[in-house]
Amino acid sequence: MEFTTTGQIIECRAAVSWAIGEPFKMETIQVAIPKAGEVRVKIVASGVCHSDLFFLRGGAGPQVFPCILGHEGAGIVESVGPGVTSVAPGDHVIPLYTPQCYECDNCKSPYTNICTKDAMLQMAGFLSDGTSRFTCNGQVVKHNMGCSTFAEYTVVNETNVSKIDPTAPLDKVCLIGCAIATGYGAALNTAKVRPGSTVAIWGLGGVGLAAAMGAKKAGAARIIGVDINPAKAEIGKMFGITEFVNPKDHEEPIEKVLVKMTNGGVDHALECCGIASCMKAAFAACKGGGGVLTLIGLAPLSEDVPFNAYQFIAGKSVNGTYFGGWKSRDQVPKLVEDYLSKELMVDELITHTLPIESINDAVDLMKKGDCVRSIVKF
Ligand SMILES: NC(=O)c1ccc[n+]([C@@H]2O[C@H](COP(=O)([O-])OP(=O)(O)OC[C@H]3O[C@@H](n4cnc5c(N)ncnc54)[C@H](O)[C@@H]3O)[C@@H](O)[C@H]2O)c1
Ligand SMILES: [Zn+2]
Ligand SMILES: [Zn+2]
Repeated sequence: MEFTTTGQIIECRAAVSWAIGEPFKMETIQVAIPKAGEVRVKIVASGVCHSDLFFLRGGAGPQVFPCILGHEGAGIVESVGPGVTSVAPGDHVIPLYTPQCYECDNCKSPYTNICTKDAMLQMAGFLSDGTSRFTCNGQVVKHNMGCSTFAEYTVVNETNVSKIDPTAPLDKVCLIGCAIATGYGAALNTAKVRPGSTVAIWGLGGVGLAAAMGAKKAGAARIIGVDINPAKAEIGKMFGITEFVNPKDHEEPIEKVLVKMTNGGVDHALECCGIASCMKAAFAACKGGGGVLTLIGLAPLSEDVPFNAYQFIAGKSVNGTYFGGWKSRDQVPKLVEDYLSKELMVDELITHTLPIESINDAVDLMKKGDCVRSIVKF
């Protein structure tokens, strides 16, 4: 299949982030032809994730700007650069912020999904050759997380894209590009939630609800949702939450409430807020002798979270997850299959679908807690 745009620079719409704290600005950008090992994708839809807010608030510093955010998208391959073999024009794909190159030590290891091949370049906002494919008003605009799905067309490394079943609705399965895979995998792959265990999940956003779905799948007996937004109690039930606790309803610190509720502490705590105080509380709520905290939320990169060392001696431990531990190119297509066979809930997370021009409204909805997940469409 060949599109009329093949071999041409494409001019299209994008929501550009110019600096920390500034709203998205709709711009006309130029998207260059994909180079060797690269794939140009027409984005159909993209979820708005709290990690986008993390970047906008300066969580990773000022050097990521100007950039095109968005890493929870889905689309159709428009053209490919020389040497690309795993996808072809017309294929339906999900861009991946956790690449899989199959060549680095980590990709060859069964114990991690953190591909190291272009990690530093991706952090810096560039593709494999150290440059960007985006310009706007004559200025270079950086990539973000190897995806940049808030552009109508984006260019990604072949290692950052997975081909999926073309019958899957792109404006739904885009969420498998982040929230669903992250939370679900955090419970199954990273926490390895034990059957019959008691689980507490801090933050019932897209990621936390997907974590509840994973804990349920793993056979947890109790899944306690912890959220300051009372509206999350009802939606939580749909994803497997068996009890809901709002820290604002209690005088006592929330960890004490949890320890009492569970007669000594939880087997698994999953932090899906990205707030240092929640991470501390979640660790304190873990049972001595086997309680495990799994960190999913992103605190600002410069922030340390102090944990009391004796807690580790007493048998608690902490681990963390990036993209739910999935080997991305291998496993994202399977997660899409699980969605198509109704094993994985996705649609239920989507409360708002907006045109890309309204992306700042999607951010406001997330800040106010008035949505679960918003999708922006081109
Ligand atoms: N590790 C990864 O690979 C990865 C992937 C995706 C997202 N994330 C991170 O996961 C976190 C969650 O993302 P999301 O998109 O689901 O966010 P979201 O904004 O949709 O949800 C966050 C939830 O936390 C709740 N919350 C806020 N403060 C709280 C508090 N003090 N106590 C309890 N609950 C509180 C909010 O009410 C909301 O329901 C973010 O930090 C995001 O950056 C990490
Ligand atoms: Zn995300
Ligand atoms: Zn790799």
